[in-house]
Amino acid sequence: MLHRLIILQDALGAIEPLLPVFARAGFAPPVVRESLAQVVESVRQGEVELLILPIKLLQGHGRFDFETMLRDADRVATIGTAPTADADAILTGMRAGIGEFLVSPPAPAELEVALLRLQRKWGATAVRGSVTAVYAPKGGVGATTIAVNCGYALAARRTDAQVAIVDLNMGLGDVTSQLNLQGLYDIGHLVRKLDQADAELLQAIVTPCGEGLFALPASDDLEVAEQIQADAVSRVLAACRASFAHTIVDCEHAFGARTVAALDSADRIIVVLQSNVASIRATKRTLALFKQLDFPEDKAIIVLNREGPGDVLSWNDVAKSLGRAVDVRLPNAFQLTTDAQTRGIPVAKLAPNAPLSAAFNVLVTRAIGEVGVLDEDDRAVPKKRGLFGLRRK
Ligand SMILES: Nc1ncnc2c1ncn2[C@@H]1O[C@H](COP(=O)(O)OP(=O)(O)OP(=O)(O)O)[C@@H](O)[C@H]1O
Ligand SMILES: [Mg+2]
Repeated sequence: MLHRLIILQDALGAIEPLLPVFARAGFAPPVVRESLAQVVESVRQGEVELLILPIKLLQGHGRFDFETMLRDADRVATIGTAPTADADAILTGMRAGIGEFLVSPPAPAELEVALLRLQRKWGATAVRGSVTAVYAPKGGVGATTIAVNCGYALAARRTDAQVAIVDLNMGLGDVTSQLNLQGLYDIGHLVRKLDQADAELLQAIVTPCGEGLFALPASDDLEVAEQIQADAVSRVLAACRASFAHTIVDCEHAFGARTVAALDSADRIIVVLQSNVASIRATKRTLALFKQLDFPEDKAIIVLNREGPGDVLSWNDVAKSLGRAVDVRLPNAFQLTTDAQTRGIPVAKLAPNAPLSAAFNVLVTRAIGEVGVLDEDDRAVPKKRGLFGLRRK
C-alpha cells in the first residue's frame, strides 16, 4: 500500500517537481491542508505517515497543538521547512520534535535524502535489490562509463525505485567526476563504522545525484582503503541490497580480495572489454578465474565497448577468441562520452536519442532486467572453492 503524506500550506513551494521523489519513496500524491487543526484527526487516526509543515506554524500556541497531536502518533514522521536555515527556526523545530529540517523550496535531491533518513519511521520494508558488478581486467576500456550509465538508465527507467552506484576504485575513483559530485562522504566513512554498516547509516552517507540515483564514492584516503577488505565490501553491498532496488558496482581492475568479494556478492557481472589483443587475453583469463570461482556461466555478461567500423578484430573474431558469445556491443562515441564526462552528466542525459544511450538501455535489460528478486533461501548456492585464499568465508 502507498504511504500517505500531508503538506501544510506552502511548506515545499511548488510541489510539481517533487512528485517523482515522493513516488520513489512509496508515497501517494500529497494532500495539501491549510492548518494544523485540519490534520489533527487524520494524524490521530493513523491515516498519515508523513507530515510536512512550515516551522512558522510551530510558533506560539502552534507548538503546543503540534506536540499534543504527535503524542499519540509516534509513527508519524515530520519534516519542518523555513525559507532560510535560520537558527531560531531550526531550534523551534527541534524542540517540537521535528524529524528533519529543509530549506524551502528544497531541491528534489535534498527532499530525497530527508525521506531516506526518515524511512524507518513508516516502517519501510527492506528491499532485496539486485547487485551488478562491472568488471574490466584492463584499465581504460570504459568500466566506469558503463557503471555510471547503467545506473542512470535504471534510475530513469524505474521512476519508483532507487539505484546506487558503488565505487570500489580506492584512490582512483572516477564516479564522482563522471557525475560531477563533490564534498561528500565516501565508502571509508561507512566502513569506519562497520558495525553499523546498515541501511540507516548507508542512507545517511550516499550522495543523491537526482532522479533516484545515488553514489557511494571510493575513498581517496589510502590508509582507510587499506581497511576496506573483502568482508567490508560484502557488508557494504549487503546493506545496499537491502536499501536500493538496484546497485551497480564499479570494481577495481586488479583481481584482488575486494574485487572477488564484489563479484561474489553480485547477481550479475558485466565484463567489459575492447577489441584489442591485450583486452581479449585478459578477459579470457578472467573468464577462467570465474570458472575456478564456480560462477555459473551466465553470471557474466560480455560487453564489447567502443565497437566501430575501424576495428581490426570484429565482434565475431572477439567471440571466437573468447570461446563464447559477445552479449552486448556498445558503439564507439568518443565525442559524446567526452562531452558528457566533461560536463559531469550521464551520456543519456546529454543525448537521450544517441545510439550509445540506446545501447546502455539494451545492456541494462540484458544484465539486470531479468534478475528476479530472490530470497536467500531460494538461491542456488554454488559450491564454494578457494581461489588464492581470496574467497571470503
Ligand atoms: N562507448 C565509448 N565510446 C567512446 N569512448 C568511450 C566509450 N566508453 C568509454 N569511453 C571513453 O574511454 C575512456 C575510459 O573510460 P572509463 O574511465 O569509463 O574507463 P575505465 O575502464 O573505468 O578506466 P579506468 O582504468 O580509469 O578505471 C574515457 O575517456 C571515456 O570517455
Ligand atoms: Mg574506472
